[in-house]
Amino acid sequence: MPRELSLAEIFQMGYYWETKILLTAVKLELFSALDGCSDSPAGLARRLSLNERALGLLVNALVAMRILTKQEERVANTSVSQKHLVKTSPDYVGHLLVLHDSEWANWGRLEETVRTGIAPVRQHLFETNPEMGANVLAVLDRVGRGSGVNLAQFLQLEGGEHMVDVGGGAGTNAIAFCRAYPSLKATVFDLPQTLKVTKRYIREAGLEDRIALQPGNFNTDSWGGPYDLALLSDILHYQSAHANARLVEKAFSHLTALGRVLIKDRFLDQDRTSPAWTTAFAVHILVNTEQGECFTTQDAMQWMTQAGFGSVTELAPRAIVQGIKPRGGGDG
Ligand SMILES: C[S@@+](CC[C@H](N)C(=O)[O-])C[C@H]1O[C@@H](n2cnc3c(N)ncnc32)[C@H](O)[C@@H]1O
Repeated sequence: MPRELSLAEIFQMGYYWETKILLTAVKLELFSALDGCSDSPAGLARRLSLNERALGLLVNALVAMRILTKQEERVANTSVSQKHLVKTSPDYVGHLLVLHDSEWANWGRLEETVRTGIAPVRQHLFETNPEMGANVLAVLDRVGRGSGVNLAQFLQLEGGEHMVDVGGGAGTNAIAFCRAYPSLKATVFDLPQTLKVTKRYIREAGLEDRIALQPGNFNTDSWGGPYDLALLSDILHYQSAHANARLVEKAFSHLTALGRVLIKDRFLDQDRTSPAWTTAFAVHILVNTEQGECFTTQDAMQWMTQAGFGSVTELAPRAIVQGIKPRGGGDG
């Protein structure tokens, strides 16, 4: 049994002030305004057209939180905020924090959502704000650069396959797979708005001749093919179990015989109360998508079995599930 929380820890958990202080500072671009320089709160307020008294209080809290420093009434970035929260830095991660800030209103409707079961939104981020979605994918691509490489190595492919990366985003996985296997070809299937960003990444990676882009809605449009491998990475939590079961059937129909489908996601354990991060992520998904949720690997394995896949296995606990299309299952 895990240790019970103390009252102090429960209070700490209910205390979100610092979260909103940080998100607001990123949104107001305070850190960017202090790029390589220091300023007084009055000077900063003038430059950013903010209220001096209110900004002074916000800045004091940021100093106490150790995200800014203050000496003789002048504030400056710490080395970490200079590197990661200044917009022009190549290591900027603020897009992700701005996204969290933009979802604040949806979180404010959590009570209503739990009472009614109706989410405050009808569409997810990539449909409503593709530009922000693309910016966030760029950050995730940068902070998670190792993840696609690890996945590619872990799978030990033959190397000459043609894969489809369904909802492939910035192309992180397709690029990593093509680098790991020099004869592999990939198609990234995603919404047209997202593919504008993907195109840039693929060009920068010099892989335009091996990675094709196919725009469309993965639920309603054909993915092309047939393919030897279909990767569904971090897309299933945006939609319902019913839609996912249909999507896995669709993967089956787009694969060659003996082709495989791989689902990588933030899966919950079977009793759905762990890992802790994923249980909270499921609530985030509850208020920020119409019907999304987090699933278990057992759910994914069931969709695969129902779709006709054989040799259905959990390749990595709570992370990757694989199914193989049987020899007699048709060829695309
Ligand atoms: C969280 S990102 C995952 C990106 C990538 N697969 C990865 O693992 O890094 C979700 C992706 O799904 C795409 N997407 C969401 N709904 C889609 C739909 N109905 N049709 C096609 N792509 C969709 C988004 O544009 C976005 O690129």
